[in-house]
Amino acid sequence: MPRVKTKLVSWEEIVDWSMHLADIIIRDNYRPDLLVAVSRGGFVPARLLCDFLGVENLMSIQSQHWTEAAKAEERAILKFPYNIDASGLRILVVDDIVDTGETLALARNYIRDHWRPLEAKTAALQWISPVAKFKPDYYYIEVKEWIWFQYPWTRLEDTYQFIKRMLTETYKETGKTEWTYEEIVGGFREWYGIDVGDEYYKRALKVLVEKGIITYSENTKKYKIVV
Ligand code: ADE
Repeated sequence: MPRVKTKLVSWEEIVDWSMHLADIIIRDNYRPDLLVAVSRGGFVPARLLCDFLGVENLMSIQSQHWTEAAKAEERAILKFPYNIDASGLRILVVDDIVDTGETLALARNYIRDHWRPLEAKTAALQWISPVAKFKPDYYYIEVKEWIWFQYPWTRLEDTYQFIKRMLTETYKETGKTEWTYEEIVGGFREWYGIDVGDEYYKRALKVLVEKGIITYSENTKKYKIVV
């Protein structure tokens, strides 16, 4: 059993899920004039929805997460709050996944209150129903048990963060500092239950070396966690 439940999502699945999500929106007779992608996760689904819904207008709004001092909980804020006049427009705010629900709710509320559209509805490819405080108007997949979805647009970022976590926690548990490439790839498969392929492992290790989290020795051909 992997330590972190993870599902590798393919580009083909993203296209398929976006098509089905578009069908649900069409069946409900909602005809948005403008799509707003919640950056960054909503970009690809929103672009695909533009195609499948025949919508030309696409904008974005970026959310950011803050961990307030002395608070374990993360709070979402808008990174570049800006205003447009959306009077008379039907808006669809799009994200990849509704997990806690804070991001999409915040973006929708901001748009509704400041842009003054005719209507502002929300859509996401996936909705994690047991943890989300917010249910999007439209979703394709209801996720009943929390897992990490490894989307194709965050593959490198997720890979280096996953490797970093595996190395750091293994060091804390066992004191191990040195890893061969093969050990890292094998460990990754065990920890996360997925395989992202050599190109991603190599690029992720390069990022971790550049960030000063690990070093690489040409002599021993081993990666070493900087402690
Ligand atoms: N972003 C927020 N929650 C997520 C999850 N469970 N999987 C992938 N991306 C996410």
